[in-house]
Amino acid sequence: MSAPVLTGPSAELDDLSVWPASTARLPGGNLSVGGVSLTDVAERFDTPAYVLDEGEVRARCRTYRAVFPDADVLYAAKAFLSRAMVRWIDEEGLGLDACSAGELELAVTAGFPAARIVLHGNAKSPGDIETALRLGVGRIVVDSPSEIARLAAQVGSGGRQKVMVRVVPGVSAGGHEKIRTGTDGQKFGLSLTDGSAQHAIARVLGQPQLELTGLHCHIGSQITDVKPYLVAVRRMVGLMARIKESHGVTFPELDMGGGHGVAYRAGESALDLTALARRLNGKLSASCAAAGLPVPRLVIEPGRAVAAPAGVAVYRVLAVKPTGSTMFVAVDGGMSDNPRPALYGARYAPRLIGRSTTAEPVATTVVGRHCEAGDILAADVLLPGDVRPGDLLAVPVSGAYQLSMASDYNLVGRPPVVAVHDGSARLLVRRETQEDFRRRDIGA
Ligand code: LLP
Repeated sequence: MSAPVLTGPSAELDDLSVWPASTARLPGGNLSVGGVSLTDVAERFDTPAYVLDEGEVRARCRTYRAVFPDADVLYAAKAFLSRAMVRWIDEEGLGLDACSAGELELAVTAGFPAARIVLHGNAKSPGDIETALRLGVGRIVVDSPSEIARLAAQVGSGGRQKVMVRVVPGVSAGGHEKIRTGTDGQKFGLSLTDGSAQHAIARVLGQPQLELTGLHCHIGSQITDVKPYLVAVRRMVGLMARIKESHGVTFPELDMGGGHGVAYRAGESALDLTALARRLNGKLSASCAAAGLPVPRLVIEPGRAVAAPAGVAVYRVLAVKPTGSTMFVAVDGGMSDNPRPALYGARYAPRLIGRSTTAEPVATTVVGRHCEAGDILAADVLLPGDVRPGDLLAVPVSGAYQLSMASDYNLVGRPPVVAVHDGSARLLVRRETQEDFRRRDIGA
């Protein structure tokens, strides 16, 4: 069963290009994702709820494997992690990028092979490092000079841990100032320009407990252009050449991080992965040839581009408030489940589901239920003019950095995650309840 595609003034509201590939129109203005009706999800699991299309996650992993057949592809767990996600990533042959003992424990207890995990972090706690060493993670990425001796000591005299060194290549890229990590003057990595990267590399090479397998960089997030990666890879190879000159060592791998941008709204462009693979590999080979270096194995760490487009957030409208210049539609979630608009000015395209309407689209600001005016989910978007309490709104491209950054603000409770696949829905992460809050609060 499929419903007709809209034409005319409502067509813009009916664009499904950023939705999961499995999305289908159902009669009555409803949509299905993974073969499951979104209104059924709302009824069965209540709202707000996050829907994750397992097929879309797996397809995105497969695209990475197909486009980068010779690279190690590590999924960046910070985008979204759950036990099912860990299993899908494992089954699709990806590795994992983790940045805390929590992410490590979740992944390994869910069965993920520790050897395929890389631990990051600008401030790893003793517990993070203890957990990584106990579980036997594949690589630990050194991010500051002060952790080198500490890490070596924790490894102990009989042991040897593979490590990488995170370098700041001096490339500015990314969708927002807060997620640009490729230049000096931010907290991550060791500068290539002031010599601290070279210095740290020399110190790591001097530690018998540490085996330096390669260099790492992560220049930013939500990058939609290939070029910054090419500049970064050229500079990283330049540094590798200098290390070879001064220390006589070459590295078997080079980790270029993640940051691959996605489209959040129809008409926006995503990073072209095929072009990235072709041009990055080309630049890597050419730069290595020019420097007389063997070509290292490429490692990449996409998070958003695997998870974001597979997720849909479903909210129920609680209040509608026409004001002088703005129509406010308030839903039952908000900045506690999606802080991205407030933090980065991220723009989303919510859609009315579960009801057909011929009402003309009007400029609407979709807000959350939290106690502050900055709790805006989507400012100035087109929605049918007759949206009313009880309606359902669904927001595509909600699978990354929303629930993983969710909070307990106003003790609303974090939403559940429902996996949809082949026509069936199952709960992956349950809704946070009043009981959860009561149990944590043990003082009196
Ligand atoms: N590798 C490292 C070392 C990272 O720090 C990150 C993200 C990634 C890989 C994955 O980046 P991705 O492919 O997902 O862009 N909360 C922000 C994004 C922060 C990204 C932090 N690091 C947001 O919601 O836009």
